[in-house]
Amino acid sequence: MNECALDTGESMSPQEKTPAVESGEVASLPPEVIASVRAYFSYYPNTRAVVLPALHLIQQALGYVPKSAVLELANVLGIPASEIEDTLSFYQFFKQDRPLGKYRIWVCRSLSCALCGGENLLDYLRERLNIEPGETTADGRFTLEAAECLGACDYAPAVLINETLYPTMTRERLESVLDELSKQDTNGQE
Ligand code: FES
Repeated sequence: MNECALDTGESMSPQEKTPAVESGEVASLPPEVIASVRAYFSYYPNTRAVVLPALHLIQQALGYVPKSAVLELANVLGIPASEIEDTLSFYQFFKQDRPLGKYRIWVCRSLSCALCGGENLLDYLRERLNIEPGETTADGRFTLEAAECLGACDYAPAVLINETLYPTMTRERLESVLDELSKQDTNGQE
């Protein structure tokens, strides 16, 4: 048995500590995600330390971390679901209510970027996408986020779209990046 499975800090079984996923309830975690979570056990001192990397895996697979996934994860890790909820609510990064859009746009509004027009970029996106930071467009394509420093202060204002950083962004460039993404999506549907 993996030693992490023994180190949950409690003597009760996971089923006793955590509301089990009711039989008949649709399991939301793909088996490969559960396997990847278990694979982390040998790299961390206990299963509580696996919560954060596990949440990343879940959000990557499902686009968000719904309540059912929290309950399942609690069972896998053998810890109370409330501890996972605490971690979830601490990090703005994770979504719980609905899946992220295909493109997650982070606009930095920390000092350097704010002074160089970051707020204007955010306003432009608010208007163009018709959503507020933290929201996703109805078509599920874009999620808008107001970011704290993205670590690219020398290139303010900075915008991150999924994994791609766009330095010294201007409204015109942002407009053409969004146009290009829309065009790619349209072509992909044909
Ligand atoms: S202040 Fe915007 S990237 Fe640092």
